[in-house]
Amino acid sequence: MNKTLQDIRELSKIEFLPILSEECEKVLIKLLKEEQPKNILEIGTCVGYSSSIMLLNSDAHIDTIELDKERQEVAKSVWKAQNISDRVDAYLGDANVILKDVIKDKIYDFVFLDGPKSRYLEHLNVVINNVKSGGIILADDVLFFGLVKGDEYVIHKHRTIVRHLREFLADIENRDDLDVTLIQEGNGIAIIRKK
Ligand SMILES: C[S@@+](CC[C@H](N)C(=O)[O-])C[C@H]1O[C@@H](n2cnc3c(N)ncnc32)[C@H](O)[C@@H]1O
Repeated sequence: MNKTLQDIRELSKIEFLPILSEECEKVLIKLLKEEQPKNILEIGTCVGYSSSIMLLNSDAHIDTIELDKERQEVAKSVWKAQNISDRVDAYLGDANVILKDVIKDKIYDFVFLDGPKSRYLEHLNVVINNVKSGGIILADDVLFFGLVKGDEYVIHKHRTIVRHLREFLADIENRDDLDVTLIQEGNGIAIIRKK
C-alpha cells in the first residue's frame, strides 16, 4: 500500500516513530516557502516524512543520511509514492562517520539537523563551511522537553543529551558567524542563519 504523509503521521503515533512535530513542520514549511532552497542536507531521514515535506514545498534536491536500514527502505517507498525519488540522494550510515564524505565539494542553502541530538554541535561544525552565506540550518528538539533551559532535575538517561544541547545552544548563541532565533514551540526549534 502506498502510504500518504498523513498515514505516516498517524502511524508515527502508534509506532512511536520520531518524526518532526506538527509545530516544527509548520515552521519548516514557512521557511521553505520564504527561502526556496535548491540544495538541502538532512541528518536523520527516519521514514522520509520531513524530507518529503521539504521536497513537496520546494523544488530542491536533498542529501539525507540515516543509520537504520529498515527506516531508509520505508523512506524510499514514501519518496516513490510522492514521485520525488529523483530529487533524493539517500545515504545509509552513521552521520558521525560519513558526513564529511557526503558533503565533500557540495554547497547547501538549507540544512535540517535532526539526527542524534548529542552530536548537533559536531555536525554543525562539520557542515558550516559547506553552507552558503545566508543559508539556514534548522535544528529540531533543541529544548528537549523544556529540560535544556530549565532548572528541573534531569534524570540520568537524559543527562548526556541535555548537557550536549546546552553546549550546542551556548555555542551558537555566542558566535559571530551565525544569527540564531530560538522558537519555544514543539520541543524547541533553532533557526540558524549563516551570516
Ligand atoms: C528524529 S528522527 C528523524 C526524523 C525525520 N527527520 C522526520 O522528521 O521525518 C532521527 C533519526 O536519526 C537517525 N539517527 C540516529 N543516529 C544517527 C546517526 N549517528 N547517523 C545517522 N542517522 C542517525 C535515527 O535512526 C532516526 O531515524
